[in-house]
Amino acid sequence: MEKIEVALGERSYDILIAGRLIDRAAEYLAPLARDGRLIVLSDENVWRALGARLERGLGDIAAIPILVPAGEQSKSWTGLETVVDALLANEIERKDHVVAFGGGVIGDLAGFASAIVNRGCNFVQIPTSLLAQVDSSVGGKTGISVAAGKNLVGAFHQPSLVLIDPSLLDTLEARQVRAGYAEIAKYALIEDAAFFDWLESEAEKVMTGDPAARTRAIATAVAGKARIVEEDERETSGRRALLNLGHTFGHALEAETGYSDRLLHGEAVALGCVLAFDFSVARGLCGAPDAAHVREHFRSVGLPTTLAELGLQGEGERLAAHMQHDKKRSAGRTAFILARGIGEAFVDTSVDLADVAAFLDRVQ
Ligand SMILES: NC(=O)c1ccc[n+]([C@@H]2O[C@H](COP(=O)([O-])OP(=O)(O)OC[C@H]3O[C@@H](n4cnc5c(N)ncnc54)[C@H](O)[C@@H]3O)[C@@H](O)[C@H]2O)c1
Ligand SMILES: [Zn+2]
Repeated sequence: MEKIEVALGERSYDILIAGRLIDRAAEYLAPLARDGRLIVLSDENVWRALGARLERGLGDIAAIPILVPAGEQSKSWTGLETVVDALLANEIERKDHVVAFGGGVIGDLAGFASAIVNRGCNFVQIPTSLLAQVDSSVGGKTGISVAAGKNLVGAFHQPSLVLIDPSLLDTLEARQVRAGYAEIAKYALIEDAAFFDWLESEAEKVMTGDPAARTRAIATAVAGKARIVEEDERETSGRRALLNLGHTFGHALEAETGYSDRLLHGEAVALGCVLAFDFSVARGLCGAPDAAHVREHFRSVGLPTTLAELGLQGEGERLAAHMQHDKKRSAGRTAFILARGIGEAFVDTSVDLADVAAFLDRVQ
């Protein structure tokens, strides 16, 4: 069992990582249940695949499931209203813990609902997608998407416990595993070159479900994110912004493809990292061999690495225009996470969007 502590004063919590952890969920959740029951928010897909298993793992604790349709559309005002009403109908109290059992959509939605219902109750994350296990379940960013854009309404609300069971990924589609993997590699590219070396030799095992390799990859990425969150919980110093490596380019790609199945978030992040490294080379910040390594690695695991394969070549203007609306803009400038090499990312606020557009028009 790996145990990672997130030290945030009175908002501190543990992240436990172990295969088959879910099968003894009662051990960790019994102290958090009131009157022997726990409200569990999940999506219909996840509940169909794994609900019975969670219920067995909960033993004597009765799960009260609140289910929403699978997919991003549940992370909306309507989804939030449904969930908050259901929590209130189940007489949720402030000291209660809502269990988020699903991917990033469920984690973000359950977290935000917990932040606002009764002016705030507690929640626990049991992430079931690789993306949620390595990224969205840790750090306390919660929220929904609205007409003006993705993730534009939300709150910082830390969970009280995160239980990560890599064996839950056995029912996850391969494409979703690859998308989640992109966030693991992203973390390595930010500040851990030795981890990137390890991923270059072990990625295949992580992809195909080798339990030891998966646990190690997840634990390394989560521990890294936890340290960054401890230093900059609300993304004010710039340190947490490093986690957006590949995301400014990635969000533009997601916006351009309509946040659809054409391009999953993690796929956008993979190509976004490749572009961030190429752009760093173009600005004379990073050596070309490092950028080539990054591209080759994502390509080798089956993630997109060129604009051409998305049919987005020569769309520099349009892509840069999406960056103008990035919510992380400050004083009218878009902060870019660029790199001096693998494991050496930094925040650059001096980037001109016209240069980005010209660069995107030039690259493959
Ligand atoms: N809060 C944060 O810090 C943060 C960070 C990154 C991403 N996010 C958010 O996370 C969301 C994406 O998360 P996601 O990729 O997990 O998407 P998701 O929650 O939609 O899950 C992807 C799909 O996989 C299914 N699924 C999940 N686990 C499964 C399992 N074990 N077996 C079978 N099917 C399973 C889901 O039903 C869904 O259809 C986005 O909304 C993004 O904005 C948040
Ligand atoms: Zn991401």
